[in-house]
Parts: sequence; C-alpha cells; structure tokens
Amino acid sequence: MNLHFLGHSAAQLTDGDTTVLIDPFLTGNPKAAVAADDVQADAILLTHGHVDHIGDSVVIAQRTGATVQAITEIAEELAGQGVEAIDTNLGGTWTYAWGSVRLLPALHTSVTPGGTVSEPAGLLIEIGGKRIYHVGDTALFSDLKLASRYGRIDVALVPIGGHYTMDRFDAVTAAEWIGADTVVPVHYGTFPRIETDAQAFKADVEQAGYAQVAVLAPGETLTV
Ligand code: NI
Ligand code: MN
Repeated sequence: MNLHFLGHSAAQLTDGDTTVLIDPFLTGNPKAAVAADDVQADAILLTHGHVDHIGDSVVIAQRTGATVQAITEIAEELAGQGVEAIDTNLGGTWTYAWGSVRLLPALHTSVTPGGTVSEPAGLLIEIGGKRIYHVGDTALFSDLKLASRYGRIDVALVPIGGHYTMDRFDAVTAAEWIGADTVVPVHYGTFPRIETDAQAFKADVEQAGYAQVAVLAPGETLTV
C-alpha cells in the first residue's frame, strides 16, 4: 500500500488497483503536489467541510466518477451536485470492494463553503491489508485512544500546525494515544499561521518511543 502525500491534509492511498483520495484541497493550495485536473480517484473521503479539506471534491468526482464518502449533511449537499455520495455518520462504516472506512469523532468545527454545518470526523481506513487513521482537523482529545480498538493502526496522519488544530506538542501526546506504528504529520507549513518544525516533532515522538515519524514533502510517498 502506498501513501502519497499531496500537501496540507490531502493524501492518496493506492493498493495497486484502487486509488483513494482524502481531503483533496488542491486548487488554491500553495503546497499541492498535483493539479485537480490530473489526480485520479476511485473513492474520495472527507474529514469535514472546511474549504481546505472539501477542496476540489466535486470537480474530481464529476470527472472521475469517484464516490464521495462524508458525514451525512455534507454527503447530502454533494449529492445535490450530481456526486454519488456515501452518507455515513460518526461511528458508521462503509464497506467497499477494496476495504472499509469508519467515521470517528474529531474535536473541531465544520461548515462547507456552501454553508452546510456538520460535525467533523476522523477516518479509519482499511485498504490493502493496512489500517490508516486520518484524524482530520482536531484538538488533542482523549477519544483518539479509541481508534486502536479496531486493530493495530499502521499509519496515522496527524495535524501538527496549531492555530486551527492541535500543535506539534499536543500531537506528540496524540501519537502516544493513537499508538500507530508510523505517524505522518500533516496540516502544517501550508500558510504562515500553521508553520511549525516537523523535524522537532519527529524527534520528540521518536525519542519518546511512541512511533516512527515519516515527514513527507508534498509529492513524496510512504510505502506501508
Ligand atoms: Ni478545518
Ligand atoms: Mn483544515
């Protein structure tokens, strides 16, 4: 399974047959590794409705025919735009031919550019025999501990940029609580307000023995 970091909070997972696109904020993202017109997807997964996550979902889904899985209220908005939307809510799981995606709580806010208010979510994804936890935008909160109930987490994508989410210091504790083998820091460095030191985060997490940290530049791939 390959995890291709696309910049900000966006990532692409591929198991050789299937391409899953998470939070495809590409247009207007100064760190985007790919243009919205060039990205492939069989399925798009959204953590929440903020523009730096919902991004180019609609145009990519319309071009590729990808389904879009999001929390109920966002899925309803997207379905009205001709997208095949999967409307899970928190705690719910959708099973695909290639794996499954469970929506877990996140501690943040969520409104789409179209005005749809909902809860935010994290995504627990099983693909290619691996378990990936994209925690979405969130503050540090103790329910991050719950995701490992479903089995060992291979990779967790964790925001470290602060201001809109937890910062790199709280994210060290998140790495401890999530208990993933590998942590990929996301949601930093895109804009001045979320600049931070990803290498210092890596050193803190690895010296504590909580996880390995893979600091990926936009466009880089982690093979799991
Ligand atoms: Ni957000
Ligand atoms: Mn965000």
